Amino acid sequence: MLQATDIHVYYGDSHVLQGVSLEVRSGEIVCLLGRNGAGKSTTMRGLVGVNPPRSGRVLFNGREIAGRPVYENVRSGLAFVPEDRRIFAGLTVQENLEVAQLPARPGRPAWTFDRIYEVFPLLAPLKIRKGGNLSGGEQQMLAIARALVGNPALLLLDEPCEGLAPVIVQELSRIIAGIKSQIPILISEQNAHFALSIADRGYVIDKGLIRYEGSRQELLSNTEVQSRYLSV
Ligand SMILES: Nc1ncnc2c1ncn2[C@@H]1O[C@H](COP(=O)(O)OP(=O)(O)O)[C@@H](O)[C@H]1O
Ligand SMILES: [Mg+2]
Repeated sequence: MLQATDIHVYYGDSHVLQGVSLEVRSGEIVCLLGRNGAGKSTTMRGLVGVNPPRSGRVLFNGREIAGRPVYENVRSGLAFVPEDRRIFAGLTVQENLEVAQLPARPGRPAWTFDRIYEVFPLLAPLKIRKGGNLSGGEQQMLAIARALVGNPALLLLDEPCEGLAPVIVQELSRIIAGIKSQIPILISEQNAHFALSIADRGYVIDKGLIRYEGSRQELLSNTEVQSRYLSV
């Protein structure tokens, strides 16, 4: 469904992603693990086009999308929840969802507002609250909910747990487990414990290179990779 091959991303002269390849197939939850500064967000932004790769290929549903504008990628079904969430502070929860709504995918049930509030019960009583008055955890849930009402084909979540209390992280696990049969997800995380509780398989990134790739079980049992590249 999404296949990146040898992508290189720069910030000015700084060569940050030095040839990253990864893949997400339909029906999968895949995680991209790595320490702070490893290149997780740069990879996610490279895939969706916020920081377009200077070289390499990104195929989404068989189409080359590297270098295509972000809005076109979003419209074609690639949803991105950035690490800073970017919800509209001056709009209410309901309005944040309304502005993001896109038509359902052919043959797929639509993410209606009713369905969203069922999956995110903590947002239901907050419909008329302004985005700027939500807690960090509520903002994260709204950011994911807002991505879903665009009826995407694939969801990219960049470090969703960052800065959230354990009880909210648990609620996010529950939500993602609940939607995983309905949408494939690529999730980047420093929190390997959280990511491996929901992902089928994963990649480990360090200094802009993929250092390891394995199933959930392989990642959970590989203590060498954990101590070398992850903070567990
Ligand atoms: N806007 C930027 N300008 C210059 N360097 C950046 C920028 N964003 C990130 N970097 C650098 O790129 C590297 C990877 O960062 P990032 O992808 O944000 O890591 P992660 O998300 O894994 O914490 C780091 O060395 C970071 O300092
Ligand atoms: Mg990051």
